[in-house]
Amino acid sequence: MPRRKKIMPAASALPTKKSDKTPGRLLGMKDWVGAEGIHFDNLVQQARKFAKLYSFSPVKTPILENYDLYKKSSRHNSDKEFYSVDGDKSEKMILRPEITQGIIRSYLENNLAEPGRAARLYSVGPVFRREKLQTGHYREATQFNLEIIGDQKPLAEAVLITIAHNFFTELQIKTQVQINSLGTAECRREYCVKLLAFYRERGRRSKLCRSCQNNLGKNCLSLLDCKEEECVKVRAEAPQIADHLPAESREHFTKTLEFLDELNISYNFNPYLVRGLNYYNDTVFEFWPMNEDGTILGKTALAGGGRYDSLVENLGGQPTPAIGLAIGLERTFSRIRDKQLLTGTVEEDIVFIAQLGEPARLKSLQLFDELRHAGFNVRQSFVSDSLKIQLEEAVNMRAKTSLILGRKEIMDGTILMRDMDSGAQETVVYKKIKERLSRKDKLVEKRLNIRKEGGLYGGF
Ligand code: HAM
Repeated sequence: MPRRKKIMPAASALPTKKSDKTPGRLLGMKDWVGAEGIHFDNLVQQARKFAKLYSFSPVKTPILENYDLYKKSSRHNSDKEFYSVDGDKSEKMILRPEITQGIIRSYLENNLAEPGRAARLYSVGPVFRREKLQTGHYREATQFNLEIIGDQKPLAEAVLITIAHNFFTELQIKTQVQINSLGTAECRREYCVKLLAFYRERGRRSKLCRSCQNNLGKNCLSLLDCKEEECVKVRAEAPQIADHLPAESREHFTKTLEFLDELNISYNFNPYLVRGLNYYNDTVFEFWPMNEDGTILGKTALAGGGRYDSLVENLGGQPTPAIGLAIGLERTFSRIRDKQLLTGTVEEDIVFIAQLGEPARLKSLQLFDELRHAGFNVRQSFVSDSLKIQLEEAVNMRAKTSLILGRKEIMDGTILMRDMDSGAQETVVYKKIKERLSRKDKLVEKRLNIRKEGGLYGGF
């Protein structure tokens, strides 16, 4: 029999480091580890909680989709941004650059249309774009998508914008909504003729960046999207699409802005916001981060969305109006100054079990299951031998109570109960632990009710 190579047990092994032989992380990708990993996870939970609160149903679609789903409907000039994957000869696949099209495909494929009312679907997950490397731009990013399918009224715009506004407000992120209307395909065609004529007039073309010069005649709206200084200067005198909207689009847009006024949501009519995605009509919007004094902090959007009344039909369904938005969770995360806000809002009453020594570890496994079955929100770190590390973990997840079990407690038939806020500890008879925790829970519940009455969700 070949001899088995002896491997040191993980707990006693020395910390390991990356060596030259370790393949490195890909550019534009990020690892979420340690406390940051826990907080990011909580942000994802916060997003799900919000979606539930506003009665959106979860949809989880594959990360790998048919290339054709995105080819016609995604970003302007985006082929070079796609991560495409070759399957067998008949099949070209794509790592989804957005979730919207996947949700619509799933809506059609699974017949999710609801008679008499719009479908409200949400999804949280990664998207992949081979983007130019710059701050705030990842090649794998996590989006929180909300889509309302089957609603033509401007109230749908107001609902979505309100949800995102409240999401950011609860995380204490100040934002301003940049909003514009792109009207109908017909009015955009007419507008583009005027816009191109403007750019070709009196030597303006030579002032544009190389990419815009190449885009002249190909995709006129993308000219307005360019961030290069020279192009921004030229754009200031360009005709605006708002002056070319048909009556119906103008009315829809006016109504949307009136709703935002009524809801007291800060917005800026931005005639040059075009959103660089091919499927939008009428309302488009983005959330830009703001400074405390109300000035714009940056144009890297935390969220973006718009109306896309033709996409369902273009993907083979019945004509169905729709609107949606996606919140970028990495960018949102980087704007949250107090990360404890996340843990604090997600879980309130965690009971953490810490143990010291082999027999205690075994017993705490049983206790863990017992408490879990009794309905307690219980956590542990059975992989760690160090009490200090375990309690640090309890602090990181903002446990309300820690139960500590060691050799002495096992012999005495007791357990240590530590209040994580005050640090006060008491010895409790092991058999009475559930009863004792329930008593503590009631106190916490009372405190939570007081908070809720104070309006955790600002009246929504
Ligand atoms: P988008 O503007 O391309 O829209 O992306 C939405 C948000 O995702 C952005 O505002 C940003 O926060 C985040 N995001 C996008 N790309 C990156 C990146 N490379 N790195 C970090 N964050 C990023 C859409 O994707 C549309 N599907 C939104 C939508 C839903 N429209 C209708 N329904």
